[in-house]
Amino acid sequence: MRLAQVLFSQGFGTRRECDNLILAGEVAIQGVVCDDPDHEVDPRGLVFSVEGRDWPYQEKAYVLMHKPAGYECSHKPSAWPSVYTLLPSPLRLRDVQAVGRLDQDTTGLLILTDDGALIHRLTSPKKHVPKVYEVGTTDPVTETQVARLLAGVVLHDDPKPVAAAACEITGERELRLTLVQGKYHQVKRMVAAVGNEVARLHRSRFGALELGRELAPGQWRWLAGPQDILGTPR
Ligand code: URA
Repeated sequence: MRLAQVLFSQGFGTRRECDNLILAGEVAIQGVVCDDPDHEVDPRGLVFSVEGRDWPYQEKAYVLMHKPAGYECSHKPSAWPSVYTLLPSPLRLRDVQAVGRLDQDTTGLLILTDDGALIHRLTSPKKHVPKVYEVGTTDPVTETQVARLLAGVVLHDDPKPVAAAACEITGERELRLTLVQGKYHQVKRMVAAVGNEVARLHRSRFGALELGRELAPGQWRWLAGPQDILGTPR
């Protein structure tokens, strides 16, 4: 693949802009500047740098972000900044999308990718990909509330009850809730349906991925691919 084509595919601008970055000596491979846009490279496993910043070549981009509070998961946010502003411009240009949305005030694990097939797979209600939420509530959590969340509650937009796949009390006003659906405001609405209220919400797991302490709110890292999320090779 031509070096200019590599840059273009990774979101570094128009073909002309990619050529110009290379011609200006801003692109290096293994620390050696390459100023020939036609230079042929094998993109598999390639790490190149642009203006001093390393980039792994990724045919599709897979990103794990620690979403901070006060950001919307929308390209056109209404009141708060967009989570996409936390990504560097090549990723924005590649048009990565959040896999499902977290509310403005929800923190935690957010996956972003430009792999449309994976987004479909992860958000399809039939696939039952588990998402784990750490929930802080305004009132003490009761065993009855947990039993009702596990048995299923009716939300306004669907007569069919929706149940938590798992639910445990983790503190006086704390719950760990595992959901396999991804309905609008699902955690908040389910907790409200059993007579409590969400005061804080944090997503700690998505599929096989866990958000550890390695990322501060607002930080992101590359994922190797869908297998990191699904836990199995595709
Ligand atoms: N459920 C909610 O209510 N809000 C979120 O952000 C995620 C799940």
